[in-house]
Order: sequence, then C-alpha cells, then structure tokens
Amino acid sequence: MTTSSAPGKIILFGEHAVVYGYPALAVPVTQVQVKVTVSGNKRGGVLIEAPDINLSAELSSLPPDQPVAAVINSVFSTVGISEPPACTIHIQSTIPVASGLGSGAAVSVAVLRALSAFLGHPLPDEKVNLLAFEVEKLHHGTPSGIDNAVVTYARPVYFINKETIKTFHAGAPFLILIGDTGIAAPTKESVTAVRKLWQTDQTRWEEMFARIGEIVRDARRAIERGDNFKLGKLMNANHAILKEMTVSCAELDRLVTAALQSGALGAKLSGGGRGGNMIALVEKENAPAVARALEIAGTKRTILTQVG
Ligand code: MEV
Repeated sequence: MTTSSAPGKIILFGEHAVVYGYPALAVPVTQVQVKVTVSGNKRGGVLIEAPDINLSAELSSLPPDQPVAAVINSVFSTVGISEPPACTIHIQSTIPVASGLGSGAAVSVAVLRALSAFLGHPLPDEKVNLLAFEVEKLHHGTPSGIDNAVVTYARPVYFINKETIKTFHAGAPFLILIGDTGIAAPTKESVTAVRKLWQTDQTRWEEMFARIGEIVRDARRAIERGDNFKLGKLMNANHAILKEMTVSCAELDRLVTAALQSGALGAKLSGGGRGGNMIALVEKENAPAVARALEIAGTKRTILTQVG
C-alpha cells in the first residue's frame, strides 16, 4: 500500500494575468488537502473510490479525458505499464471543488505520487509537475501552470509561465484569512470568459494585465520587506482590476467589503473568481473579528493560514 498527500493553494496576486505571461504569487494551504492511498485488490481492475468528488468507478468505464482517469493513465504510460495491476485508488479530499483552492491540481499530484510509488517507480517532482500540468489543461482549458507548481513543490512561488519556478521568502510572517462564498465556480469558465474578452480588445486587456504585473512585482518586494500595510493596499488594487475584468461577483465583493470594514489590511478575490474564495490580510488581534464579519456577510467557512 502507498500513500501520498498534497495541499490546497491560494493565489495571493496575479490570477488571470498569469495566463498571459505576467507574474503571480501563490502559496500552499496545508489546512486543506488531498490524501491518496493505493492498495492491491482481489476483485481485479483499477478501481477509483473518491467519495469527496462524487466518483466511484472502474478506470476502464471512464472517458480518457476525465481528469482522474487521465492522470492515472499518464502514470501507467510514463512508467511503461501496459497491463495495470489490480488496485484500488482511494482519494480523500478536504479541498472544496471549483473554489479556487487548487483541488484538481492536488488530486493530480497526490495520485501521481501514490500510484507511481505503488508501481515501484516513484516520479521526481519535475515529472509530477509536468504531468499534473497536462491534466490541468483538462480542468482549466488554457492554464498557466501555477496551480500544479505550487501544489507539487508545496512552497510559496513567484511564477511566470514557461520560466523556472522561483520561490519567495516573507520578511515577516503574515496571516491570510480565506473566505469561501460557497459558490462553485469552475476555473475553466472564468479563464475561457476572460480569453473571449481579451480577444475582443487585446490592447485594453493587456494594459490591465500589465497593471496587475506591476502590482505582483511590488507585492513580492513588500512581502520580502515585511511591509503588511503596503501589501494590503496592493491586494485592494489587484481586486479593483479583477472587478474591472468582470471576474468578481456580488458575493465576493460583499466579503471583500466586510473584511475591510472589520479591520483587514487588504482583501481580494483569489483564483478564477465569479464565486469560490476571497482572501484578506489580517493581524493576529483582529483575525477573529474579520472572520465574524465574513460569517455575517455570508461566507460558508473561513480558514486562517500563515505565510512565511
Ligand atoms: C487559477 O488558480 C488561477 C488562474 O490564473 C488560472 C491559471 O493560472 O491557470 C485563474
């Protein structure tokens, strides 16, 4: 029997623009995770048991572009196995689906590691990242690769598409409160919607992406200096552009406003938007008050996570 787990993630700055070659910052969220166990079975075939994502099936019954089937098949072909041994792949997840917390990438990474180890060919991180990226294309259409990178390496990343993944260090640890709207919003839909809009007026959209790129670079410097006041302002500026890009929604804006009114230093949506999660920069003293304000404003749950 082999086991592997992978964390969730949040995008701190730069979502959507990162798909077009601009930088973004993301960090793992270890409070939520996917755990995969692979064990032999006597019944025969490759069975997938994933109650948290409503999947219970024999691998051969799934279409090849079903993301979990695709990731399993990619392990078999990478390690050169044409007749897979009878096994059961059990997937448990506490990461809400379609919420911007990287559930798809975490499932891929944990399956890649647990299954390749079960077959006696554990895959190195670079390969796990590459194969998870291929599956992200099924989830997201035209992903940047940031989700699979942060989940594979499980550390903060400063990410630019097609460039070597860099990490970043916080000059002082800071606290992020995550608030879930409870609205399922598949990233594929918002990424596709943004692409359509970008195609109608590339000059305007590239200008918005470039402004986000500047914010991301400033944010990295603020994080490295430990300047939370500046960081909060940059989060607000990033959220304003994401609103302009139509990827926010009334529920996200309500949570962002509630966070700011209750003392957060900054707040923004995180991930694909149009639902899913928002994040707020909080101090230890006001974190409970901001969490309460988010609950009153309708969040389905909050998670407090420390960066650095
Ligand atoms: C999703 O977590 C972040 C997006 O920028 C999509 C991507 O980068 O693939 C919205």
